[in-house]
Amino acid sequence: MSEPKREKLKVREQRAFLVAVLDSKDQRGKERALDEIKGLIETAGAEVVGEMVQVRDNPDPATCLGSGKLAELKQAVIDTEANLIVFDNHLSPSQGKAVEQETATQVVDRSEVILDIFATHARTYESKLQVELAQLLYMRPRLTRMWTHLERIEGGIGSGKGPGEKQLETDRRLIDTRISELKRKLREVEKRREREVSGRRDMLTVSLVGYTNAGKSTLMRALTGADVYVADKLFATLDTRTRKWSLPAFGDVLLSDTVGFIRNLPHHLVASFRSTLEEARHADLLLHVVDASHPEAQRQLTTVMEVLGEIGVDSENPLLVLNKVDAVEDRSFLDVLHARYPSAVAVSALDRTGFDALARAIAERLGGGYEEVTIDSYPGNGKLLIILKERAEILSEEYPDERHVIRCRFPKRFRWMLEKLEGVTTNLS
Ligand code: GTP
Repeated sequence: MSEPKREKLKVREQRAFLVAVLDSKDQRGKERALDEIKGLIETAGAEVVGEMVQVRDNPDPATCLGSGKLAELKQAVIDTEANLIVFDNHLSPSQGKAVEQETATQVVDRSEVILDIFATHARTYESKLQVELAQLLYMRPRLTRMWTHLERIEGGIGSGKGPGEKQLETDRRLIDTRISELKRKLREVEKRREREVSGRRDMLTVSLVGYTNAGKSTLMRALTGADVYVADKLFATLDTRTRKWSLPAFGDVLLSDTVGFIRNLPHHLVASFRSTLEEARHADLLLHVVDASHPEAQRQLTTVMEVLGEIGVDSENPLLVLNKVDAVEDRSFLDVLHARYPSAVAVSALDRTGFDALARAIAERLGGGYEEVTIDSYPGNGKLLIILKERAEILSEEYPDERHVIRCRFPKRFRWMLEKLEGVTTNLS
């Protein structure tokens, strides 16, 4: 196929009209329904010029919206000079095509917007492969409709960045070949990752998970001093990053950041990001970071638990971290969350508050709890002093009869380290 002749549109030049079809049971209510998709659209770089919400329990099988609303949408698009309609619902290929024909305007759905953002943010070899695979799987059944898109628009929402132009010159068979190739490459990367993860078993791993924009990268940076990219954008992090963190009174652990979760994550994305989340599956402890200042905090928390369940993680196990407490306006909301999740720890990654309690809670969970130990040794026992410096909280020290007697809190998990030492007795042995 020859290069199509057309005006090139940039994402930021697009004028998006937002549409949501809401279930009457949907808790968000009409006013808040479009908040998240707005955030997604702005992250993708387009301008929102209008919006419409319809409450309807059974979306129309042909066009999602009812016929009256569809006519209203057609007029609104003309009035606002929108050049893109964004549905916060998942549209079937035929629904998307029907709305496009009726309104003579390009239509994208929630999945497509998320795929575009992922395509823009993918940095590493692995995440690029994952995003391209997810895009191709999404595109395949929509090929005819997407092709007309791609002929009209390039480099904007709906075209995707990874496969984008390449698809114009290809056909379904070539797409299938590419899908197989991507799957094979991803399997290779996954094998390498599994080897890496299992090679690190001598150090305990803590993984950060949470809804997009919850503050995972900010927390990681604040705790480890690592240079992690932070942006007030959805999905700033697409790749797992791992850094060493010296946990007070416990020792070094590995802390890793993962991709943000989101409501209605396109199925292909969950599948293709499984290997990134592999890190989370094998972690010794998960920190589930929640933006406690977000009006939808509870809903986001539940979504993350559901996605964790989907990837085979026991969603009840993670330590809940209520972040952004500095920005919480209604303190009673925090009390509600605390009452519901009594073991949750409240922090502000930005102001670096609550970190002592967080470190204690993590050490407690990783260490299988602490126990009070009295250790009797000779003065200057170097090996013992190194272990205690890293892992213990010293309560008292005495030197009776040329002995060194130490009372400390010590993680149960590492009790064996004391038992192995020569010239040392404890009240446990
Ligand atoms: P994804 O990469 O989308 O998964 O996001 P993330 O969870 O890694 O969030 P990130 O650390 O990028 O933070 C998102 C935004 O929240 C940034 O603008 C941060 O500055 C802000 N933020 C993070 N922690 C806090 C906090 O404790 N208080 C306040 N007020 N803002 C915070």
